[in-house]
Amino acid sequence: VASRRRQTNSEPSPLGAGAARNPKPEGVLGVWLVGAYGGLATTVITGAHAVAAGLADTTGLATETEPLRQLHLQPLGALRFGGHDIRETNVLDSVRELQRENGTIPVGWLERLARPLRAIDKDITTGTVINCGRAIRALRGSAPPRDRLSLRAVVRSIENDVRGFMRRHRLTRVVAVNVASTEPLLPLGPAHRSLAQLERAIDQDRRGSVRASLLYSYAFARLGLPYIQFTASNAALVPAVTELFDRAGAPYAGFDGKSGETLVKSALAPMFRHRNLRVLTWQGYNLLGDRDGVVLANARNRHAKVATKDSILSRVLGYPLHTHVAIDFVPSLKDHKTAWDFVHFEGFLGFRMAMQFTWQGCDAILAAPLVLDLIRLADFAARCGERGALAHLAPYFKHPLGCAAQDLPTQWRMLLDYAATRI
Ligand SMILES: NC(=O)c1ccc[n+]([C@@H]2O[C@H](COP(=O)([O-])OP(=O)(O)OC[C@H]3O[C@@H](n4cnc5c(N)ncnc54)[C@H](O)[C@@H]3O)[C@@H](O)[C@H]2O)c1
Repeated sequence: VASRRRQTNSEPSPLGAGAARNPKPEGVLGVWLVGAYGGLATTVITGAHAVAAGLADTTGLATETEPLRQLHLQPLGALRFGGHDIRETNVLDSVRELQRENGTIPVGWLERLARPLRAIDKDITTGTVINCGRAIRALRGSAPPRDRLSLRAVVRSIENDVRGFMRRHRLTRVVAVNVASTEPLLPLGPAHRSLAQLERAIDQDRRGSVRASLLYSYAFARLGLPYIQFTASNAALVPAVTELFDRAGAPYAGFDGKSGETLVKSALAPMFRHRNLRVLTWQGYNLLGDRDGVVLANARNRHAKVATKDSILSRVLGYPLHTHVAIDFVPSLKDHKTAWDFVHFEGFLGFRMAMQFTWQGCDAILAAPLVLDLIRLADFAARCGERGALAHLAPYFKHPLGCAAQDLPTQWRMLLDYAATRI
């Protein structure tokens, strides 16, 4: 998978040279969302506006709890959203889709928020689906116009989109976040090992060596933007791209947000370890029914997701065990994801017992506050002069970069230790 060069339980990132310890943010922070019309992005955008307008409280945002709230993070009311998507729609229709399908956004809010939400459409442009596979291409129907350009020209056009956004709103800081559909895994080869080789592949227009997520992240790294990889698409943070982020001095974090079943796993598995109960089998069955589910119904895309969901148990427990993760498409569930986990374990005298749990969570409601926390913490890290993989953001990810620890308590302690160095 992507770069694991800093796979240690790193100390909190050192204070950037000459940077303030807990700097106050100034002005408006731009947020560039890849997948801007998706269910998650729409919940992020609407949620930030709703909290800022006093329509909702901050439940779900860890950055609004002690001690993280003592960090000088960007206020939710001072975010400006833009981004890429590939479907022809708009923010208000995306909100209505969520209202209709999932009931997560109160109907009355639209009256209050329609104006600022409608204004975001002019900052959302059609992206690229180069080498994204059939399931993602089918979301759009035809190839976006820019896909006819050379790879180098596509990268330039992505950069120009972000630059235009910054110019229009006089932004000096932008955090980029990938919340687009999960791509099939990109098999890694020489073109991904170093920046020089990747640049050659792009200049030679070798389309099989990239996926859309890589073109976006490469462009963001060229612009020096802090970056968050919230999906399981491995192409986005291949070593060649992280090399460019490092050179540009921009921090990054990923990947695949840990919001539901895997979050529970990473909290429960340490309990078995600490009690010296031997887990023999952990079976997890996930049912989901929204657009994310449609894409994950494709075996190649699902494989990318299962790879990040399945890797944590043996690493937390410290021994191999029988595991299975299934993701099934159940259209009627929409975004109300249901997971059933069966844990078979052995106790004193070799006696075998079992535990089962059912998790019923609304995916976007769980994930949106994580994305908002990550945007604020990545911007904070950038303002502090931090670079490289933000290991202290491990509790937010299924496959955290820069951090070997997979159990939630250890990961959470890393975030608190980091905050303590800043407050
Ligand atoms: N709890 C969660 O919701 C959660 C947790 C972890 C990861 N994720 C991941 O976040 C992503 C978004 O989830 P969602 O429920 O919003 O899915 P969604 O299908 O509603 O949204 C994805 C959006 O990305 C757009 N898109 C696809 N390919 C693109 C491309 N190449 N360029 C630009 N836009 C593109 C689609 O048109 C769509 O609007 C998925 O990959 C999902 O697996 C979600």
